[in-house]
Amino acid sequence: MSDKIFVQTSTEKNYNLHFGYDLSEVLKEYISSYSAKKAFVLVDAFVLKNHRAHFEKVLKKKFPELQIFEVPRGEKAKSFEIYNKAVDFVLGKGVERATPLFAIGGGVTGDLAGFVAATVLRGIPLIHIPTTLLAMVDSSIGGKTGINHSVGKNLIGSFYQPDAVFADVKYLETLPQEEWVNGLSEVLKYGMIHSPEILEQINTLIDDESFTDGKAWLSLIRQSAQIKTDIVAEDVLEAGKRAFLNFGHTFAHVIEKEGNFSEYSHGEAVYAGMIAAVYASNKLGGRIELSNLLQFKSLYDLSLDTILVSPAELVEGMKADKKVKDEQIQLILLKEPGSPYLYKVLETEFVEQTWEHTLKIFR
Ligand SMILES: NC(=O)c1ccc[n+]([C@@H]2O[C@H](COP(=O)([O-])OP(=O)(O)OC[C@H]3O[C@@H](n4cnc5c(N)ncnc54)[C@H](O)[C@@H]3O)[C@@H](O)[C@H]2O)c1
Repeated sequence: MSDKIFVQTSTEKNYNLHFGYDLSEVLKEYISSYSAKKAFVLVDAFVLKNHRAHFEKVLKKKFPELQIFEVPRGEKAKSFEIYNKAVDFVLGKGVERATPLFAIGGGVTGDLAGFVAATVLRGIPLIHIPTTLLAMVDSSIGGKTGINHSVGKNLIGSFYQPDAVFADVKYLETLPQEEWVNGLSEVLKYGMIHSPEILEQINTLIDDESFTDGKAWLSLIRQSAQIKTDIVAEDVLEAGKRAFLNFGHTFAHVIEKEGNFSEYSHGEAVYAGMIAAVYASNKLGGRIELSNLLQFKSLYDLSLDTILVSPAELVEGMKADKKVKDEQIQLILLKEPGSPYLYKVLETEFVEQTWEHTLKIFR
């Protein structure tokens, strides 16, 4: 079964997002239009070990000179060191402007490989094959690529659109529970900012004991990708509506930082951040049941016990976020489920109260 979404961008590149279980035939058909004999694969180390045959059987037939670069697991791969190694590899093996590069892995591999594709020879064809739930619903869509800098995450990068994206849920067969939960936060986010019915659908998956069944997730993955695609299409360079995708994230970034980027996963932090954002929304007259989100709490096994600083200090931390302008905190809040708006904080007391309440929930 396959399905696709056509993505129109403001650049000269438009592309398809493909969804399905085992997209080998669709991928084969897509690559048939390439004339190159060579192709590059930048692939997550775990995915290489466990899924090599799945992608190699299609790619190697078409590109006999398939060059595979293994991307180490974890956020540390989004570094100058690994970027340099990958660029050395690609240039050393004789890349040309028409040589395609396949990014196969989660968001880390996608961001790194995307940046390599964007910068080598000022841009070579990029095909994303996301292999985590998060990468399928979020990072492979929208054209953000990049690596981290010692000053902060994602500070070096570029907007670079892929030529195609293949969300093949066969890869999700090996995804561990914590990575499902990580991606879940972004799907919940789409439910909160756009389509509240998504939350009911997730509930059905859980009731059917299909929470880690990629095939059962296909419709939700497609809906999520459609929402991200639509928002990004209206705001490619992140000047307006795209900020809605940061729902919960301003709070989450502080939680991640307080946990030294190791104590809490991004997904856990976003989950707690969305609960904070709902609380703050209601304080300003919003009408959102917090239980809509709290019903998923048991999936997260999250305690914020190690956050020892005061709510006032957490507010200070929010001012240091890279998306903050002139030290003014901007929050994405909701009027009701599915209706987000941007709120510029003038009076921080209610944000402190929000932190207090959120920390209580996770203690
Ligand atoms: N570009 C964007 O718009 C965008 C959006 C959101 C997040 N991101 C970035 O994405 C990154 C996070 O992505 P992620 O959560 O996918 O993390 P990740 O790429 O580190 O993958 C998480 C873990 O899952 C493993 N994995 C990957 N595929 C697997 C599979 N099929 N089976 C089993 N294990 C598998 C990886 O080895 C890794 O250990 C962050 O760096 C974040 O900044 C980018």
